Amino acid sequence: MDFQAVLDEIDAKIRPMLGHGGKVASYIPALARVPAERFGIALRTCDGVEACAGDAGERFSIQSVSKLFTLTLAMQHLGERLWERIGREPSGNPFNSLVQLESEQGKPRNPFINAGAIAVADRLVSLGDAKADILALMTSLAGEAIAFDEEVAASEAETGYRNIALANFMKSFGKLDNDVDPVLDMYFHQCAIRMSCVQLACAASFLCRDGAHPVEGQSAVTTERQTRRINALMLTCGTDDAAGDVAFSIGLPCKSGVGGGIVAVVPDRLTLAVWSPALDTTGNSLMGMKALEMFVGKTGLSVF
Ligand code: DON
Repeated sequence: MDFQAVLDEIDAKIRPMLGHGGKVASYIPALARVPAERFGIALRTCDGVEACAGDAGERFSIQSVSKLFTLTLAMQHLGERLWERIGREPSGNPFNSLVQLESEQGKPRNPFINAGAIAVADRLVSLGDAKADILALMTSLAGEAIAFDEEVAASEAETGYRNIALANFMKSFGKLDNDVDPVLDMYFHQCAIRMSCVQLACAASFLCRDGAHPVEGQSAVTTERQTRRINALMLTCGTDDAAGDVAFSIGLPCKSGVGGGIVAVVPDRLTLAVWSPALDTTGNSLMGMKALEMFVGKTGLSVF
């Protein structure tokens, strides 16, 4: 299949629609000033062939897409023990909701809502230098130096009232081992990682390769079983309260972020990364989702 031609066609169809719908995240200035008229798409096949179109080389704030990689890091180190503190059910609520934590004794529904990612960050803080560890993983997976945007991290901390509340709430249930400050510092920094679609498609490509590292000769990122489980969680929980709709209309495991990025996986075939900053009402990239729908329509690739 000529994937480059497919991506070029999608880019040509999406470009005239940019700036006509959706809203760029505005809770921090560094995200609010990203132009809505950006669109990038990149893919990497499981045998390493790459294709990209549009603004695929431009770095953006990956936000909640980072939850995919902190989960990977925690699974590498903790295996089954991770699930003592975190569930695997879709929440059906917005990603930053507090409501279920009260009746569910501080155990987050899944690792992709904010509460779940904060619980994962707590485990990573216990394991070592969490911020250095996640950058080392991202740099190894992308094959290029990956860094935090310190301005975004500082703004996340300044305006992160809900995340601060979520961390304190879980701490009150005895569900965080560490003080809330270092855990939130890790969480705010992971949200502030900057990467391009090309880098993300490469970094996440272990998910279409049964856990094999994207760079030949490196040891496996995860076991085959763990990779299947990460993909299952992406399909059921990766786009928060839109997950059912995304499974219905796209049919691929996805993880999205409010920076407008989405990673999608076609197991045993390829990994995709799309970016367009204007979001729909569920906090997912409007044109990113449209592009994935077009990709599935044009290629017939889906897990179903
Ligand atoms: O913590 C937050 O709410 C944001 N920094 C990230 C949220 C996010 O990307 C959720 N996206 N689906």
